Amino acid sequence: MRMLPANRYPLAAIPCYNLTLRTAPMLKADHPFSLVLFGASGHLARIKIFPALYFLALKKRLPDHYAIVGFSRTKMDDRAFREHVAAAVREYVLEVNEKVLSSFLEHVSYHAGQYDSVSDFRALAEKLTLLEDGATDLVRLAYLSIPPSAFAATLENLCAAGVHESKHAFRCILEKPVGHDLSSFEALHEKLSSCFRPEEIYLLDHYLGKEAVRNVYYLRHANPVIEKLLRSSIIRSVQITASESVGLEGRAGYFDAVGTLRDMFQSHLFQIVALLSMRLCNDTKEMKAARLDAIRQLYLPPAKDLSEVVMQAQYGPGEIAGKKLLAYLDEDGVAKSSRTPTFVAMRLLSRSPSLDGVPVFLHSGKRLKTKETRIAIEFQESSVLAGKNGYSNRLDIILQGEAGMKLYLQTKLGGSEPKFRPLVMEDPLVCMGDCLVEHSLLLLEAIAGNQQWFLDPEEVRACWRITDPLQKYLDSKKTPLFTYESGSSGPKEADAFIGKFGERWL
Ligand code: BG6
Repeated sequence: MRMLPANRYPLAAIPCYNLTLRTAPMLKADHPFSLVLFGASGHLARIKIFPALYFLALKKRLPDHYAIVGFSRTKMDDRAFREHVAAAVREYVLEVNEKVLSSFLEHVSYHAGQYDSVSDFRALAEKLTLLEDGATDLVRLAYLSIPPSAFAATLENLCAAGVHESKHAFRCILEKPVGHDLSSFEALHEKLSSCFRPEEIYLLDHYLGKEAVRNVYYLRHANPVIEKLLRSSIIRSVQITASESVGLEGRAGYFDAVGTLRDMFQSHLFQIVALLSMRLCNDTKEMKAARLDAIRQLYLPPAKDLSEVVMQAQYGPGEIAGKKLLAYLDEDGVAKSSRTPTFVAMRLLSRSPSLDGVPVFLHSGKRLKTKETRIAIEFQESSVLAGKNGYSNRLDIILQGEAGMKLYLQTKLGGSEPKFRPLVMEDPLVCMGDCLVEHSLLLLEAIAGNQQWFLDPEEVRACWRITDPLQKYLDSKKTPLFTYESGSSGPKEADAFIGKFGERWL
């Protein structure tokens, strides 16, 4: 079997242990659709969206009639674009079925254009009408997989050229981060809402398409035992870790303008905290509102200054798996004077009953030793017996990396003295049933018109309200920017940061 780099999807290798476990019917695109992918020659399209679309074709989830049109500035014809798509699929999917791939490619075409040229968008609208070939009950989707800086022009021209105004249902999908801060989000949102109706706007955070992330809510509320464990009265702290071994992957233009706080915390990590703390919903239709309520409960801890709330660092040179790696400042496309953080650690509080008063520590960085996304819930020491040997009673929910759930409990060692070792109860938390990767699942849900797992504009606002003062503090030249070795577990200052509160990273 071919090995893939750490961030690649072994899409075909995702196990689907079927059928007896499945209660809901398989999700399929029941309507014909046309999808315009803006940013079609970009990184996200290559590593996630084309593989996700191919995967849907492989799993027979696509209708007979569909069209995928790539739109970007790069000049190329349909044939060159299809080669580009095929190369992405072959690079990011294990064991490609060439027959499925070539019939999938028959639905793919390309339209070169400038994001700020209304005539290019008019030509696009005409092309779509031709491709749609009079189909009825069709859904037209515009997927903006472009840097946030290109959102405004693209939205204006989509609107001016009337791409959304066919006789068909329309969805506009925007990848997070939506905006750069609260005020740029408001400006974008105004553009969006002046052109599209709320039911046409899909703000996408791909973490909300991950089965393991969605499962955080269900693990808690479908299990009275875990629900009882997730009570603020017995939790000492919660930690959310999102460590990545990848670096920029050719995305310096995007990342250097955005940085880790906006890229990973503003949506992905805050959503994980929301799923962990949100109330039980009687109906899946309430999920979005409940998530929003949980997000609204998040707040920054009172502190003498923001250095007690957030810290930042940038990777230096180092090595991962025997490969020598450059410092961030030596990466292609990064200015030598860049102060963009590639690592951030922060402290957060929530007023949700399950986390009320519990410190939540979050940290995330690129070029770290491992790829892992993990929630660690450390419980308070229950009696004089516990905590004497350096182990804590704790529950880890590992969402990515070696996914699994681990409950650490103290158990007695043999001998007349009460000494303990951790007993670890674990399960690999493999997705069973109708398992789709995140972009495949979210695309099907967008086609079906299901917005439950897309961001509500109010959620985005609430997240920017938390992030804005922190980002402003991080951007200040007076704020320290530490460094860490690539391939390490982060800067030593992150240990000191959490150490001030009597904790350590788990
Ligand atoms: C994206 C960020 O949203 O998430 C990337 O822009 C990051 O910088 C990626 O690498 C991580 O996603 P995943 O699915 O690999 O955890």
